[in-house]
Amino acid sequence: MQRPELRFQWARLGDLSAVEFHAAMVQREAVFVIEQNCVYPDADAYDLQCWHLLAWAGGQLAAYLRVTDPGSKYPEPSLGRVLTSPAFRGQGLGQVLLTEALARCATTWPGQPNRISAQQYLLKFYQGFGFVPVSQVYLEDNIPHVEMLRAA
Ligand SMILES: CC(C)(COP(=O)(O)OP(=O)(O)OC[C@H]1O[C@@H](n2cnc3c(N)ncnc32)[C@H](O)[C@@H]1OP(=O)(O)O)[C@@H](O)C(=O)NCCC(=O)NCCS
Repeated sequence: MQRPELRFQWARLGDLSAVEFHAAMVQREAVFVIEQNCVYPDADAYDLQCWHLLAWAGGQLAAYLRVTDPGSKYPEPSLGRVLTSPAFRGQGLGQVLLTEALARCATTWPGQPNRISAQQYLLKFYQGFGFVPVSQVYLEDNIPHVEMLRAA
């Protein structure tokens, strides 16, 4: 399948429309709660202050992540809730999304490293972007995770 052209939206919650944020929450719920069979509070206080990165393919939300500010979740800006909507998987959109997010981070917080709490099964994916593991495997919401750091 040909990779769709993406339009990126990088915004604080207050600058997203209700419909745009609803689209993000629908995909987050579909992926992190239903697909991953995980009962956890997906919408949380970080949503109120973080940056949201939405990747639109026409009118459909194809991929999404959020970035918490330095000094919020971690001392460094932190990418989380990284997802490609199931209908758009396996076309390289995850790569495109991460590349865009790291570029946005570099512009928003020049010279800052990035820290993530990565699901262990995606270690190689994140290593491909220069993230290195900096913790043992731990359980977060019962899913194995590894903390990873990427130099600026
Ligand atoms: C992880 C995710 C965002 C990848 O999206 P995608 O658009 O299908 O990814 P891409 O097509 O860009 O693939 C990029 C790389 O991701 C990795 N990857 C994708 N799916 C994977 C899987 N199920 N297991 C392991 N690695 C995987 C591979 O390294 C792949 O590289 P390759 O094509 O050379 O094998 C998507 O599978 C997803 O939304 N997963 C559920 C949510 C999740 O676990 N998020 C991460 C939280 S830390």
